[in-house]
Amino acid sequence: MLVAANLTRTYRNGTTALRQVSAEFPPGSITVIVGGSGCGKSTLLRLLGGLDRPDTGEVLFDGQPIHQPHPAIGIVFQEPRLMPWLTNSGNVEFGLSNLPRAARRERAAAALTRLRLDGLGARWPKELSGGQAQRVAIARALVAEPSVLLLDEPFSALDSFTRSSLHNHLLDLWRDSGLTLVLVTHDLDEALVLADRILVMKPGPGQIAARFDVSLDRPRRRSVPAFEALREKIADIITSTAEPDHLATCTAVASSPR
Ligand SMILES: Nc1ncnc2c1ncn2[C@@H]1O[C@H](COP(=O)(O)OP(=O)(O)OP(=O)(O)O)[C@@H](O)[C@H]1O
Ligand SMILES: [Mg+2]
Repeated sequence: MLVAANLTRTYRNGTTALRQVSAEFPPGSITVIVGGSGCGKSTLLRLLGGLDRPDTGEVLFDGQPIHQPHPAIGIVFQEPRLMPWLTNSGNVEFGLSNLPRAARRERAAAALTRLRLDGLGARWPKELSGGQAQRVAIARALVAEPSVLLLDEPFSALDSFTRSSLHNHLLDLWRDSGLTLVLVTHDLDEALVLADRILVMKPGPGQIAARFDVSLDRPRRRSVPAFEALREKIADIITSTAEPDHLATCTAVASSPR
């Protein structure tokens, strides 16, 4: 299991982006982290992925401290960051340079198939739509066969139709693979469509102000009153000017009416 234990991170300019943040990410869960701009979401994700190190506290994966990127933890960013001089397959294969060529090809083809991108491997990144490019980026993160996938606003640059199609792709992938997903977003609808747990962060310095367990049936419908109620509750916490310390950490369970 991935665990954030008491993480504090102060940047060189004196900004404390996180203060004593703790969270557990159970295997197979989908945790969505929401919060206003600058509340430390990306900082937390970078620490979880071993791309940065906390000043105090530690990130543990199956009990072992994470000090650098780990093959079992994949990361997807807001922009696909594909290399234009490589084909889509070449981009997916990129992280597998230690494997023989045939094995690299096979793994890349399997990852592209999982994202329903068969046939696009031989093409170039510039020939892809935004949604396809982001799927190639997810395939690239999956090729190393991680058990945890961290995603930092992966769909925020896409239009709403493409975004909801990628939500379905991600949920299909999650159902088939049992991956642990940790996703950062500004979009509360996206959080409520995807999450089984939502962490709400507040800035100054960044901390987790509230936690929600979301047990609405999937596929989730926005018209369900519990969906709307939880959305409002989270929006209130994010926009509240109360000091995060004064907000109670709470757990709410929203269930669909049977
Ligand atoms: N490399 C850095 N050096 C100095 N300060 C930084 C650095 N990266 C982030 N910060 C600061 O740390 C705080 C948290 O930043 P972070 O990027 O984690 O926020 P975020 O919640 O991801 O915001 P956004 O929603 O806008 O992406 C902000 O005040 C930001 O200005
Ligand atoms: Mg960010």
